[in-house]
Amino acid sequence: FIHCKSVQELEYIHNAAVAVDGNGKIVGIERDHQDVEQAKGALLKSLAWSASDVEIHACKPGQFFFPGFIDTHIHASQYPNAGIFGKSTLLDWLETYTFPLESSLKDLAKARRVYTACVRRTLAHGTTMASYFATIDVDATNLLADICLDLGQRAFIGRVCMDNHDISPEYYRDESTEKSLEATLKTVEHIRSIDPTFDMVSPVLTPRFAPTCSAELMTGLSVIQRDMGLPVQTHVSENKKEIELVAQLFPDSKSYTDVYDECGLLTDRTILAHAIHLSEEEASTIARRGSKVSHCPCSNSALTSGVARVRWLWDKGIDVGLGTDMSGGYSPSILEAARQAVLVSRHLAIGLGASAETTPEELERSQLMPEEVLYLGTRGGARCVGLEKRVGGFEVGMDWDAQLIGLGSVDAAGMSEDDEHGNLEVFGWEKWEDIVPKWVYTGDDRNTKKVWVKGRLVHSRA
Ligand code: GUN
Ligand code: FE
Repeated sequence: FIHCKSVQELEYIHNAAVAVDGNGKIVGIERDHQDVEQAKGALLKSLAWSASDVEIHACKPGQFFFPGFIDTHIHASQYPNAGIFGKSTLLDWLETYTFPLESSLKDLAKARRVYTACVRRTLAHGTTMASYFATIDVDATNLLADICLDLGQRAFIGRVCMDNHDISPEYYRDESTEKSLEATLKTVEHIRSIDPTFDMVSPVLTPRFAPTCSAELMTGLSVIQRDMGLPVQTHVSENKKEIELVAQLFPDSKSYTDVYDECGLLTDRTILAHAIHLSEEEASTIARRGSKVSHCPCSNSALTSGVARVRWLWDKGIDVGLGTDMSGGYSPSILEAARQAVLVSRHLAIGLGASAETTPEELERSQLMPEEVLYLGTRGGARCVGLEKRVGGFEVGMDWDAQLIGLGSVDAAGMSEDDEHGNLEVFGWEKWEDIVPKWVYTGDDRNTKKVWVKGRLVHSRA
């Protein structure tokens, strides 16, 4: 069992066994025994469980359990567009690729196909919890909630709000502020009807971003937030032209961040995606409010948006998680986002995307290591969605949201098992401290053998 002990440090739990009860909760951990058999025996004894009553999932040599990934920002509705963006940047990308696709999902048969494929695919990549943007359509959004519950993925489900008729296209927008708030509440009520305590699936209030939302709408959503204690998600400071547009639309606000703050949307349950071009003052405001940042490196590179400064955000005390931002990001994989987070942090260290005030020491410190991006993808993400006590690590009292990772090897006949095991070649003499970065840099969904959410097996590779 491998999980994050701190931001910088992984913990390797050897010769161990973990007990999960019928509710998917971890109820016992035995570690550092002479071998796994002994750990298993000690665990059964301490719980007074009989071996015949338990189902056993063992690691084969070279395999390890890792906490499930948390995707803090992903557009389920944009899955068919993954990899399709040409040379576009944010604002023309939205108009050319994104709004037409999202609008088309009012066809519920199409929405079912897209959402089912998206949830299956992300589960196959080890994503056990996702904070989803759906579309403005209530029925299609409610369908996404049904599908997540059915397929067993933990999820926040956001009906997208966009009531600004100057920016949102005629064919894809809420009719009015009131209708937008009403539609939002319909999705809240639907989710309450299928998961009354929002245990697996929760609504998330989703003003798309300041340009498509009126101040009245955003203030209305903040009232619902306070009444019901719901999470909030939106985009902030992703692209220079977007920031100029926000300054034009909200001339009385000092910054993009202040627009949200003045509407009461910066709460400790708010996830802000991108947060690339923030000023010191904006970052201080976000930190003061306890709002979270979803770092979306794949998307930030693909749409030529910029380089977000994770270490700088951490230094301000802001919680950061990883987002695929599919289809701004081309991949549904958090492992890919983790890898890209390492690479773009190196670009920052080179000086690309750094602000004029950044010191050489800050530049050097900006580099992220595999351990740190795995933290972002698990415990960091868990803090962003407010589930840090329940998921993101292997501890008694937490839920069993986990993935079984297996690495490849060359078999006795000298045949490569690449297709089965992915790009990895592990020879058997590597230390675990080498195998984990190998997985981060060269692994993919072929290495994700099994995935569980709350104790339920939700994906298994044949
Ligand atoms: N800003 C507003 N909408 C979107 C979206 O769908 N994706 C991204 N990346 N940014 C946005
Ligand atoms: Fe996004």
